[in-house]
Amino acid sequence: MDFILDNQQQLIKKTAREFANDILRPGVIERDEKSLFPKKEISQMGELGFMGMMVPEKFGGSGLDTLSYCLALEEISKVDASVGVIMSVNNSLVCNLLYKYGNDHQKNTFLPKLASGKSLGSFSLSEPQSGSDASNMKTFARRESSDFVINGSKNWVTNGISSDIIILLCLTKKNIGHKGISAFIVEKTFDGLTAGNKENKLGIRGSDTCEIYFDNCKVPFKNLIASEGEGFKIALDILNGGRIGIATQALGIAQESLDRSIQYAKEREQFGKRISEFGIIQSKIANMAIKNEASRLLIHQAAILKDKGLEFSKEASMAKHFSSGAAISNALECVQIFGGYGYVKETGVERLIRDAKITQIYEGTSEIQEKVIAKSLLKGD
Ligand code: CAA
Repeated sequence: MDFILDNQQQLIKKTAREFANDILRPGVIERDEKSLFPKKEISQMGELGFMGMMVPEKFGGSGLDTLSYCLALEEISKVDASVGVIMSVNNSLVCNLLYKYGNDHQKNTFLPKLASGKSLGSFSLSEPQSGSDASNMKTFARRESSDFVINGSKNWVTNGISSDIIILLCLTKKNIGHKGISAFIVEKTFDGLTAGNKENKLGIRGSDTCEIYFDNCKVPFKNLIASEGEGFKIALDILNGGRIGIATQALGIAQESLDRSIQYAKEREQFGKRISEFGIIQSKIANMAIKNEASRLLIHQAAILKDKGLEFSKEASMAKHFSSGAAISNALECVQIFGGYGYVKETGVERLIRDAKITQIYEGTSEIQEKVIAKSLLKGD
């Protein structure tokens, strides 16, 4: 593993950092408070090439590797983790899935718009009764000549309201478990599709999350991804990569917690000296930094394995599990260092605790990551 970033990687990190500080930071508290979706900012990120970073240039993307994507995503998530998840879902779960499993027609039709920020994607797997037990779904697509007719409902759809296309996982055959699940590209304009109200969430309030209802929604056969029955394995394969993205979002939150803590500790005076001079604060700062470096190493390891075409699901799960725990713990320490000033909205650090929590829940809870890791370690005789 190379610990020195090359010139291109340094430029990507710098561009993302400047964009995040100049464009995202000024409105972040207001977007959080009012649950405002960053529509204009996402389209600017599309112009910068951040919405389809790993999509080859011939399909309108930036043609970069997963490591470069992680470098940019960390910088974006440091400043606004809501924008981080919007970027992560579009890159990891939507563009990657279409590029890896879509046919040429599907890639040519959808990827250029998604990768350039002209349209936005969402990924719809969960249902009210099937979260961690993801294959236990009910939404059903019935074949009718050259269409599928979909009925059912999905929930926790990130980008559900603002997206133009949805990667939908649903049953095309009942009673055969995950082998009856297929993947579809559903366009938001299709009749019979309704997005529910925006969920009123604890954190990542700038991103929109909603239920999606299907009432005899007709999807043409040409929008089926790969073959019938392959959807669940496609979803889990793509979620392995998605987990690198969420781990990186968590790292962004953890790094912001550390950066803000250092800055504040050097300014704040108590008992006649700066609080950074107290051993107890130094210890907190050192431990936060150790967690961030360990998270970064786990994330970059998983990204490099993925880019080399090697098995990386265990490493991605480890990265997500560790980084999401680090995000919570660093965000709590940050507010502790800020004291009363950390507990009010104006300083913008209490949001870090609220934003961090979801990284232990979506794209597989920490308990599911432990299951994936243990299964990999215990396989064989
Ligand atoms: N990668 C690739 N394939 C995998 C896999 C993985 N990580 N895990 C399992 N598979 C394959 C298995 O090999 C198996 O294939 P075969 O039948 O051919 O052998 C098939 O998938 C089914 O595997 P299991 O029998 O192990 O499946 P399961 O029903 O027991 O569930 C699970 C496994 C790991 C618990 C899975 O259900 C899971 O990951 N649950 C969490 C769901 C999740 O992450 N949801 C996220 C929603 S999207 C989201 O959150 C986005 C957002 O908003 C930001």
